[in-house]
Amino acid sequence: MSGSPVKIAILFSGRGSNMRTLARHIARDNVPAELVLTVTNRPNAAGIAVAEAEGIACTIIDHEAFDSREAFDAELDATLRATGVELICCAGFMRLLTADFVNGWPDRLLNIHPSLLPKYKGLHTHKRALEAGDAEHGCTIHYMRPQMDDGPIILQKKVPVLADDTPETLAARVIEQEHIAYAQALDIALTKMAGA
Ligand code: GAR
Repeated sequence: MSGSPVKIAILFSGRGSNMRTLARHIARDNVPAELVLTVTNRPNAAGIAVAEAEGIACTIIDHEAFDSREAFDAELDATLRATGVELICCAGFMRLLTADFVNGWPDRLLNIHPSLLPKYKGLHTHKRALEAGDAEHGCTIHYMRPQMDDGPIILQKKVPVLADDTPETLAARVIEQEHIAYAQALDIALTKMAGA
């Protein structure tokens, strides 16, 4: 890839384990990218301490401080563009984005979801996979489109569902694969950008 490293932002709402994995992948694995910013919509997100520990800037944009989804998204968009961000990775960012926002980042907005999409869009994916009696479950990284948990799939990883699984044990098996998958999916997205 020629030119300067691709400027990346990671959006998160919670614990930040996917963010940590992506940050370390970018910092250590010779990835042609630079993590310039993390953004959370939750002022108490545990991931804020993760960003600090990794030495990455974290901006808090509390969605409760905004009157509308559009106003929040406009602030988010302005923050990302002011930092020169070129690619956004949603990593446990638990907030729906407006179509205007999503359409403003065509194929520049990635999301990870803890199911084998198109199965189990939305919440409680592990519980739903168990209730359905699925033999396998997993995670998906995809380009975002305005519809929730929709868009071209970059990568999926499967795990077996075991007879004595609870949502928690299944989630633990899936998150291990999420960490591997997101790093690989980022590499794929960067390669596509370089060739575009
Ligand atoms: C991950 O399991 C991710 O797939 C999920 O939130 C968790 C965040 O964990 N995302 C969604 O459900 C999005 N629809 P993390 O904060 O430790 O990365």
